[in-house]
Amino acid sequence: MKVLGIETSCDETAASVVEDGHIILSNVVNSQIDIHAVYGGVVPEVAARSHIEVINPVINKALADANLTWDDIDTIAVTYAPGLVGSLLIGTLAARTIALLKNKPLYPIHHIEAHVYANFLTEMGNRDSEMGNGGGLLPTTYHLPTTQPAFPMLALIVSGGHSQLVLFHNHGDYELLGQTVDDAVGEAFDKVAKIIGLPYPGGPSIAKAAETGNPDIFKLPQAKLSGKYDFSFSGLKTAVLRAVQHEVGVTIDYPSSGLAELLSDRQRQDFAASFQKTAVKTLVDTTRRVFLDYQPKSVVIAGGVAANQELRKELSLKIPVKIEYAPMNLCTDNAAMVASLGYYYAQNKKPSDPLDIEVMPSLSMTETIWS
Ligand code: KG4
Ligand code: ZN
Repeated sequence: MKVLGIETSCDETAASVVEDGHIILSNVVNSQIDIHAVYGGVVPEVAARSHIEVINPVINKALADANLTWDDIDTIAVTYAPGLVGSLLIGTLAARTIALLKNKPLYPIHHIEAHVYANFLTEMGNRDSEMGNGGGLLPTTYHLPTTQPAFPMLALIVSGGHSQLVLFHNHGDYELLGQTVDDAVGEAFDKVAKIIGLPYPGGPSIAKAAETGNPDIFKLPQAKLSGKYDFSFSGLKTAVLRAVQHEVGVTIDYPSSGLAELLSDRQRQDFAASFQKTAVKTLVDTTRRVFLDYQPKSVVIAGGVAANQELRKELSLKIPVKIEYAPMNLCTDNAAMVASLGYYYAQNKKPSDPLDIEVMPSLSMTETIWS
């Protein structure tokens, strides 16, 4: 079964065709990072406008890259929650229109649940067409997992808006074991980057600066919470702010926007490394506790922060099962993960009426459990 996935929940316009939930036939991602970097973060109105401009070419390219026509597409899957309302509207409207015009079944997909399915993509298809029609298609650098994760599967979901530990008993059947009580970890990366003067998006720039920093220079606290498997990252962000103020010799009422220029590159790198070390330790310690208590057969990580190499390294050291990580460009927003999850929906659920689908900007993942 060939599923066309469409994703526009934030600042990436993406479309992809995936066969049988695991074979990537095409994966087109149009990132708006350059547009938003000027503002230091995503501007919702600008994001929506940019989606409108590129959604049709992105979808057409996903079909062309896969060497397919509309007749070859069996099902459409589209992100309808959660995300920016204006962004979600563009993707869902495109998907609903196509579903009606081309008479295809349509499945609305939860973005956070879809992130987990980046780990179910195990094969690249379409190598012939890649060679035949001039290239620019699937990057040959994808190192996909060799097998799909087994259930029960523990998922550490870490993105710009979410930090959760979810135990999957099967497709569509899962329980939320822990989550952040305040900021998401990706949000903390982005905010700390802003404080110390590293470019947006903060995750990759902190990871890069941390490579040459000393993680033991600044001692930062790990939050202690009453919820057994919950996280907190707001205190860590404030601890970085206080440590920076102390380091450059200003009081706590000094505007945070003026701190970055007082730091040297060396200090910036050391703050990046110290923050990353503490954030990663918080995630890994809690994941390890859940692992020991629940003994899942597999562990996966999902969401933009799953691209973090330090997190991958530490998890592999502390979790006593082999973890096969999805490639970095399938950890950040893309539509292949949406198409993969769409396949499992199509195996288990009736499609939605295209006229009934509404976007749900803040729907939690547990509200989409099938069983
Ligand atoms: O999943 P995603 O692409 O979008 C959301 O659904 O939020 O995640 C974006 C988040 C941003 O906060 C970004 O800074 C973070 O993922 N991120 C990283 C890395 N790459 C992206 N965080 C840490 N290390 C990275 N290498
Ligand atoms: Zn995402």
